[in-house]
Amino acid sequence: MPPSAIPEPGVRPSEFRFHCIDCGHLSDSTSPDYRCPLCGDLLEISFPEWNKSGLSSRASGVSANDLKSTWKQRRLSSAPADLSGVWRFRELLPALNDGYVVTLREGNTPLYEMPQCARIAGVPHLAAKHQGMNPTGSFKDAGMTVAASFAHHAGYRWIACASTGNTSASMAAYAARGGMRSLVLVPEGKISWSKLSQALDYGAVTCQLRTDFDGCLRLLQELVLRAPVHQLNSINPFRIEGQKTLAIELMEQMDWQLPDHIIVPGGNLGNSSAIGKALLEMRDLGLISRLPKLSVIQSEGANALVRTLREASGRRLISVNAETRATAIRIGNPASWKKAVRVLEATGGTCEQVSEVEMAQAKAEIGAEGIGCEPASAVTLAGLKKLVKQGFVKAGETVVLILTGNLLKDPDFTMEFHRGDLFAGTPHESEGTALSRLRRPPIVLDATLDAVLRTLEQADKSAPGC
Ligand code: F0G
Repeated sequence: MPPSAIPEPGVRPSEFRFHCIDCGHLSDSTSPDYRCPLCGDLLEISFPEWNKSGLSSRASGVSANDLKSTWKQRRLSSAPADLSGVWRFRELLPALNDGYVVTLREGNTPLYEMPQCARIAGVPHLAAKHQGMNPTGSFKDAGMTVAASFAHHAGYRWIACASTGNTSASMAAYAARGGMRSLVLVPEGKISWSKLSQALDYGAVTCQLRTDFDGCLRLLQELVLRAPVHQLNSINPFRIEGQKTLAIELMEQMDWQLPDHIIVPGGNLGNSSAIGKALLEMRDLGLISRLPKLSVIQSEGANALVRTLREASGRRLISVNAETRATAIRIGNPASWKKAVRVLEATGGTCEQVSEVEMAQAKAEIGAEGIGCEPASAVTLAGLKKLVKQGFVKAGETVVLILTGNLLKDPDFTMEFHRGDLFAGTPHESEGTALSRLRRPPIVLDATLDAVLRTLEQADKSAPGC
């Protein structure tokens, strides 16, 4: 796929190659399954040009300070690529002619202070970068704009993904915007209705397969070798490139003052790999002077990375039969496990797991702060509490949580939690009742002033949940 020039004076496009993460094989093109032709492992995009400028690397021939001011300047521009919080950082992305960019103005997501959650977790300063504020409500949009744009550039008619819901919603939207058709493979009955409804509305051909996410992904990998569809799962390294910009934008929002820790949920492990790649590249380019510790939190019921690190020292994947109410991360055989292990090692981060009850509690606590997120995102706060207790996060250290999905992505979970039904009939039933102080069930009343006044009085007397 020949890189083409971005028409901007003084900036050279970032020429790229595909690099096998295992055997190191370099190539200019890839097979449709994005696997190394020699060893079958995953590919990543590398930028050979960056290492050619003497002592410090330069992206697109521009120094770190000039990159920072170029990115800041672009905030004043109304060009579509500059309005995107992904393409604004295009010197760190594979080069693509502006005319092919498929954008929904993704990125530009807020960084919120979380004082109540900081107190709950026992850290002096906590912020949350809310990727759920992207156009389709999840972090997937940042990667999808890049992968869909390259698919558009290559002239693909069909793009496809396996998904626990958010990838499919995002891919379907970007396919529609780019004039492509989309094929979605999701596990039947195991994704939230709101994510499924997004894919339908954006025009995807949506197949609910009688299997889990891992089964859907396996099938997709076979399909792309047999049919003219282009796969947009995070195995596609262009997705990882777009998702990198989350970390670049975060550093810019923090005025390039690094946090000590970044904490992210882990499922298929593309996002943690992308954030880690961004941190390492930013360090190599002199944009940051040290590395924050990047840590991944998983659900106890979908803890392949936790087990891989604890039981196999990260040398081989330990797959699990995934089961969790956080359907977004109900993944037992994460494709990008090797990339994630490497970035955790490189940044000095760790991996922890949390229970269903810990996750539900953390979700309600984030909601009570006026932020809200979907269940998978809440594992970050639940995990942070554990990392503080273990002493991994030390007194005085600054922490950023990555909230990956919007509260509205899984309304069933939220309603069941507040009604008190979430853990009914499950092994967590008795622990779940301990969360009653966080519940705010809807109150059905006669339509009288008296009834509402009485409710208000009672509510005023009771202490807030957290
Ligand atoms: N949080 C949310 C809300 C997600 O949707 C996902 C993954 C993750 C976290 C985990 O990210 O896979 O990069 O480690 N969702 C995918 C999907 C798998 O199909 O929507 P990861």
